[in-house]
Amino acid sequence: WPVHAPYVKAINDLKKVRNAVLLAHNYQTPEIYHCVADVVGDSFALAREATKTDAQIIVQGGVHFMAETSKLLNPEKTVLIPDMRAGCSLAESITAEDVRALKRKHPGVPVAVYVNTSAAVKAEADICLTSGNAVEVIESLGAPEVLCLPDEYLAAWIATQTKVKIISWKGHCEVHERFTGEELRRLREDDPSVTIIAHPECPPDVLAEADFTGSTAKMQEFVRVNKPKRLVMITECSMADNIAEVSPETEFLRPCNLCPHMKRITLPKILDSLLTMREEIIIDPVIAAKARRSVERMVNLKI
Ligand code: 13P
Ligand code: SF4
Repeated sequence: WPVHAPYVKAINDLKKVRNAVLLAHNYQTPEIYHCVADVVGDSFALAREATKTDAQIIVQGGVHFMAETSKLLNPEKTVLIPDMRAGCSLAESITAEDVRALKRKHPGVPVAVYVNTSAAVKAEADICLTSGNAVEVIESLGAPEVLCLPDEYLAAWIATQTKVKIISWKGHCEVHERFTGEELRRLREDDPSVTIIAHPECPPDVLAEADFTGSTAKMQEFVRVNKPKRLVMITECSMADNIAEVSPETEFLRPCNLCPHMKRITLPKILDSLLTMREEIIIDPVIAAKARRSVERMVNLKI
């Protein structure tokens, strides 16, 4: 992409000068994902990799809760997010007070929160989970029922994969909730040979039509192993763009939805972030200490 070349060079040079790494989620645009990221992956991989870096500065190619998670796991490092407004409808769907009220209503029931939550919400939880490890995390608690917050649809999908009783909340991802089962049925009518894979943040009627359900990393793995001829990825648009670059045998059909929060992160803003060292993620130390326990418990699970 010649138009991006000056930014790519400037960012890669400045990362060396600053001793910085860029962690990029699978929903970042291809020029970020393929040209300037040091680590790419799903939310779980990014959380895990954040613990392994020697760099002093972490730039988060992703949304605010991901940058907070990096900061929780690297309290002594500087964590920058190129646009502080890069939020998430799931993270905004629940507050720490909502979690406290749920705990009062369900005393003694362990609380697992999706990594797509604020540090204040993580501080109220026993453990975090991502869509890549959800079932294993829930079962690791050894309890007959678990509060699984805040994604109603992810919780409903987990409930189909385990005997543990799942109590959920009413949060939704604004990107995945827009897909419909009807849309998928029409795709199959147009081409019965098409393979459809979907993210578990989608509503149950969508997942019922899919051939496979999994986190962004598991979808990627599915494509690598199965090499489908014609594929629809029911998730954020940049996923297919990023995988298409390395999957020449698959034709990607592109019904997809954009995440406006992920798309706030751009090459010019990454460069600006490295130049000005802004915006820095700061978390209240009392909240951070409690939230860190939930994230570390997830990262340290042997799964
Ligand atoms: P995963 O990368 O964990 O599948 O999460 C998808 C997502 O929506 C992150 O915002
Ligand atoms: Fe949040 Fe959905 Fe965007 Fe992921 S895709 S950051 S869950 S709004």
